[in-house]
Amino acid sequence: MSSRDRDWDGVRLHVVTGKGGTGKTTVAAALALALAAEGGRVLLVEVEGRQGIAPLFGVPPLSYEERAVAVTEDGGEVHALAVDAEEAFLEYLEMFYGLRRAGGALRRFGAVDFATAVAPGARDVLLTGKVTEAVRRRAASARRGRRGAQGPHVYDAVVLDAPPTGRITRFLNVTAEVSGLARVGPVRDHADQVMEVIRSPETVVHFVALLEEMPVQECLDGIAEAREAGLEVGGILVNMVRPVLLEEAVLASAADGVVDVAVLARGLRAAGLPDHERLARELSGEVVEHARQVRMAAEARKRLATAERPCYDVAFLEEGVDLPGLHRLAGSLRAQGAV
Ligand SMILES: Nc1ncnc2c1ncn2[C@@H]1O[C@H](COP(=O)(O)OP(=O)(O)OP(=O)(O)O)[C@@H](O)[C@H]1O
Ligand SMILES: [Mg+2]
Repeated sequence: MSSRDRDWDGVRLHVVTGKGGTGKTTVAAALALALAAEGGRVLLVEVEGRQGIAPLFGVPPLSYEERAVAVTEDGGEVHALAVDAEEAFLEYLEMFYGLRRAGGALRRFGAVDFATAVAPGARDVLLTGKVTEAVRRRAASARRGRRGAQGPHVYDAVVLDAPPTGRITRFLNVTAEVSGLARVGPVRDHADQVMEVIRSPETVVHFVALLEEMPVQECLDGIAEAREAGLEVGGILVNMVRPVLLEEAVLASAADGVVDVAVLARGLRAAGLPDHERLARELSGEVVEHARQVRMAAEARKRLATAERPCYDVAFLEEGVDLPGLHRLAGSLRAQGAV
């Protein structure tokens, strides 16, 4: 490992949330690649049954089996898993009650539907339970038997493509969900174990935002709510950042609707473009539009800064999101010192 300065060194569970459609799945995938860059072994998890991860890596739909989906130049590995509440429930019954064989029957009778209907929070507990199990999981120790000897963690880091901001605090607040279900016993112990991981310094919640009014507001509200619930807020991942194409002075007047069309036309003529005067008139509208967007983005950044969290830029991929693009975003996250 290099001695680069990394903001989230020591964090092993990266929860990625944000307003719906702002790029949680995309950013979570890029973050997983970034974490694996130096040879790490990373697990990327989705919990909403959306199968959003598989197409990004060009692999068939994920199942409840962890599967390698990408490798990095330095031998790092990204594995992926789609957690399903029903599978997690069956695994849970096996773990605590040795009930695997009852699984088929339970499934037929819709036991999970029943359990989650009786206790809506149970579903979230099953999902977070699986995620935190992956965080804690250790390989069998070669020195088994020696007191205190533990094998290394199976995953250096786990990245969770989490539910959106509106639901994240509830989703992670397992204890509150479970306290109505069980005060003692294995369910309670399980919930306590989950909460121990979520509340530990090894877990942070990152927020994906866009430089637009509503996503910024939702991001700030989400951060406030997460803090209130005692969750550790990580960074703000500013997604779909577009380059600024014009100089400050031009932008400033263009944002107020003022563009010197004659200057623009002269520039176009110098560049050897035909019909430069008509072109300049047409282009001036786009210059104004661009300048307004840049101004809006700057205001959005100012508001995001009030959360006093590190912000990282995630570039807008003009060609659409593909694997080479994700690797570029990962490299940029590392260059910004995120991981
Ligand atoms: N940096 C980017 N550059 C270009 N396109 C992007 C970028 N990030 C996300 N997108 C596109 O935006 C859309 C939404 O992204 P994504 O699915 O990652 O968002 P999400 O927050 O996970 O959505 P949902 O709330 O539905 O789960 C997708 O079509 C994705 O390809
Ligand atoms: Mg998604």
